[in-house]
Amino acid sequence: MRPLKICPSILAADFSKLGEDVRAVMNAGADIVHVDVMDGHFVPNISFGPAVMGSIRHVTDKPFDVHLMISPVDAYLGEFAKQGADIISAHIEAGPHPHRTLQAIRALGKKAGAVLNPGTPASALAPMLDLLDLVLVMSVNPGFGGQSFIPSALDKLREVREMTRGRDIDIEVDGGVTAGNAGDIAAAGANWLVAGSSVFKGGPQSYRANIEAIRNAAAGGRGESV
Ligand code: DX5
Ligand code: ZN
Repeated sequence: MRPLKICPSILAADFSKLGEDVRAVMNAGADIVHVDVMDGHFVPNISFGPAVMGSIRHVTDKPFDVHLMISPVDAYLGEFAKQGADIISAHIEAGPHPHRTLQAIRALGKKAGAVLNPGTPASALAPMLDLLDLVLVMSVNPGFGGQSFIPSALDKLREVREMTRGRDIDIEVDGGVTAGNAGDIAAAGANWLVAGSSVFKGGPQSYRANIEAIRNAAAGGRGESV
């Protein structure tokens, strides 16, 4: 089985002290920083751009996983690479050329991910499997933190697991992930779990326990002892 990773979504961090809060959550045992970039066009909300991400890149050595909810996307890939992204993911729905976008991410020397909205079938990935390091299955409609997990994402995760079997591809899930559903999510095939509200709730003194609760539930779903 591919390694389990807990990826806090910094959308739920305290923006008034973003660097400090991201350092705290990573020091509390998280694995990967999940960076949600929204443009007010592809999704109905605006978050932040590459300069803000770059300003906090130094707070941890752990990977930065950039989830681009922007359209068009290709013109911004280079700047996110320059500001320290390790994995860059773009939505399949963000334009007519997702294949070209994945090629462009790989050409920058970064790992490439494709994101599927809840309304997009797993089969949309089929022609692009050779270009993928990561598949991100959205379990909410993107744009906001704190939404409820859409259960049909579990079927899509199982489909993606079958499609990617034997390949060097991680499967990520994003939206409404909690310690209560992480077991089912991991059992369905996700090995990277993004979580915003359920990691940042309670403030810094709760981060370690919040992360452990999700990790233990997911490990249980994978049949691993914790
Ligand atoms: C939604 C974002 C998610 C979101 C997750 O558009 O991509 O990463 O912040 O937040 P929670 O875990 O609160 O659903
Ligand atoms: Zn995200």
